[in-house]
Amino acid sequence: MRLTASGINHGFGSHTVLDNVDLEVSQGDSLAIVGPSGSGKTTLLSILGGLVTPRRGTVRVDGAAPARGLLRDHVAWILQTANVLPDRTVVDNVALGALSERITRAQAEDRARQTVATVGLSELHTMPVRLLSGGEVQRVAIARALVGNRPFVMADEPTGQLDARTSARVMDALFKGVRERALVVVTHDIELAAMCQRVLELRDGTVHEVT
Ligand SMILES: Nc1ncnc2c1ncn2[C@@H]1O[C@H](COP(=O)(O)OP(=O)(O)OP(=O)(O)O)[C@@H](O)[C@H]1O
Ligand SMILES: [Mg+2]
Repeated sequence: MRLTASGINHGFGSHTVLDNVDLEVSQGDSLAIVGPSGSGKTTLLSILGGLVTPRRGTVRVDGAAPARGLLRDHVAWILQTANVLPDRTVVDNVALGALSERITRAQAEDRARQTVATVGLSELHTMPVRLLSGGEVQRVAIARALVGNRPFVMADEPTGQLDARTSARVMDALFKGVRERALVVVTHDIELAAMCQRVLELRDGTVHEVT
C-alpha cells in the first residue's frame, strides 16, 4: 500500500504551519521527519494518519481518496505519551492493538504474547504496566502498534525520553516489527533518523529531502 500526501496546507488561525507539502510513503519504506520544535512535525503526522483534516490538499491510499475514517483504520500509532492502561498487564495492553480485527480474545492474547516477545518483554508479560520503566512502557506501545496488521505505522518521538541504550533497544524492536509495513517516525534523535531509508526535514512549512 502507498500513502500519498499532495499539496498539504494547514495552520491555525493566521499561522500557516504546513505550506504545500508533498510526500509519499509505501510499504517497506521507513521515513523520518525531523525539524525544529514547532515546525509542524506532529501536525503533519496527524494529517498523514487521518486524525486531522488539512485545510487544503489530499491524502490518498493507493491513489484513491479513502472513504471517511478508512485511512485511520490503516494506521497504527506510537505516541510519546504511550497511552497505556496502567493497571492492566503488558499482554492486556498489547492485545488492545488487535481488537479491531475479527479474532477472538484468546487469539488476540496469543498474538499479543508473541509480539511482546519480539520487543523483549516476555518476562514481564503478566506485569501491570504501572510497574514498568519508561523504556519498557515504550516497548509496550510499540508492541501494541505492531500486534495488528495495519500497514502504516506512525511514531511520534518514540525514543523521546529514553537514554541512549534504552532507545537503541526500542529502535531495534520497532525496526524488526515494521518490516514490510511503512514507518513514518517523527524524531529529534539523529541515530533513529539515520536508521530510516529517507529523512525529510520540515522547515518554514515545507519539506526538504535530507538523504
Ligand atoms: N490545535 C492547535 N491549535 C493552535 N495551534 C496549534 C495546534 N496544534 C499545533 N499548533 C501550533 O502549530 C505549530 C506546529 O505544532 P506541532 O505540534 O506540529 O510542532 P512539532 O514540530 O511537532 O513540535 P515539537 O518538536 O515541539 O513536538 C506550533 O506553533 C503549535 O503551537
Ligand atoms: Mg511534536
